Amino acid sequence: MPAIILIGLQWGDEGKGKITDFYASRADCVARFQGGNNAGHTVIVNGKKYKFHLMPSGVIQGKEVVIGNGVVLDPSVLLEEIEMLRREGIEPSLRISDRTNVIMPYHRILDGAEENLLGDKKIGTTGRGIGPCYADKISRFGIRMGDLIDEQALREKLERVVPIKQAMIDAFNAGEKLNAEKIFREYAEYGRRLKKYVTDTTLYVNSLLDEDKTVLFEGAQGCMLDIDFGTYPYTTSSHPVAGGASIGTGVGPKRFDKVVGVLKAYTTRVGEGPMPTELKDAVGGHLVEKGKEYGTTTGRKRRCGWLDLVAARYACRINYVDEIAITKLDVLDGLKKVKLCKIYECDGEEIDNFPSSLAILSRCKPVYEEMDGWEKTEGIKNYDELPEQAKDYLNAISEWLDVPINIISTGPSREETIM
Ligand code: IMP
Repeated sequence: MPAIILIGLQWGDEGKGKITDFYASRADCVARFQGGNNAGHTVIVNGKKYKFHLMPSGVIQGKEVVIGNGVVLDPSVLLEEIEMLRREGIEPSLRISDRTNVIMPYHRILDGAEENLLGDKKIGTTGRGIGPCYADKISRFGIRMGDLIDEQALREKLERVVPIKQAMIDAFNAGEKLNAEKIFREYAEYGRRLKKYVTDTTLYVNSLLDEDKTVLFEGAQGCMLDIDFGTYPYTTSSHPVAGGASIGTGVGPKRFDKVVGVLKAYTTRVGEGPMPTELKDAVGGHLVEKGKEYGTTTGRKRRCGWLDLVAARYACRINYVDEIAITKLDVLDGLKKVKLCKIYECDGEEIDNFPSSLAILSRCKPVYEEMDGWEKTEGIKNYDELPEQAKDYLNAISEWLDVPINIISTGPSREETIM
């Protein structure tokens, strides 16, 4: 199984870090293909917590790691993570695509300015400059890692782009003054420090696959936040879907062997936008507190609700998922009843396909199938030891999605896993 794609099937925060960590232990290389430091992965190894925003998680295990061209990279954040690893005695074996776009200070300013302008219609972004950086990539104003390490190219690009960005900042009334020379000096220094990692990663990743090595393509966020397939415009600006792995690393679609989808046993979402199964009652509170549903990146409380299988079935279809890893099953422990949403009801009709229209989605009401809850799954490592009700819950999910569940996570640490 040399080329494995691992993605989130919901609105991000599915607990991908732990599952990635597991697959990474069997891989030769882990490559990130989209997103930036809007993501946050927490990995717990031997009781120690590691938080990353940019660095692929396999780095702790000494794996080769790649930041692909589909990522947007904030150099100061990456340098901090490199320093953090060094303090732990880990020297990352990192390669960064020379085509990766760089998040610049004006991207962060514009992210905030756009959100302010939207007021109560805001997206609820992480404020890290992700959207404006991807927008520049598409508008061909982007500064790429290849430019960052080439002072002349960096200077020329900044001369061209900064006046345009200043005009935009002024139009937004954001009150910031850009200093092109200061930006140049700061970013040229980042370029000098990161230069040794920058390369054409398409050569490297494809050569690993030529040698039958295993590469894990690690997704950030989740497909319901995909810029095309998610709940647009309440999405991120990249492609967290499996297809993003190809475009975000320069590996042809025919080379991939397997797609693993990570699905949390319930639904969460940060930021704005419709969420049909959201719970604002005591059960929602239980999920927030027991699931520690606070963002790794922004610390925001996540919105929680029952598992939305309408969204999950759509996600399985567009990603052609081979197997599912269920996370945080133990968070449902102790609930008398648990519920699954297989269809929505909208304007008196039943809908089983996730709608693209937000107007329709916001009118959708979940139709629930109620099942008996269970006492405890926390820490269980053998499938046979799971309570029958928990098995019924998992079977109902797998049957509805028509995808096998091959991994079940029953706690945050690496050991609390059923294969
Ligand atoms: P952005 O990616 O910062 O532009 O934010 C756009 C939307 O994606 C917001 O609703 C964010 O809360 C959400 N988002 C971005 N990254 C993550 C993530 O890693 N987990 C969950 N939600 C995210």
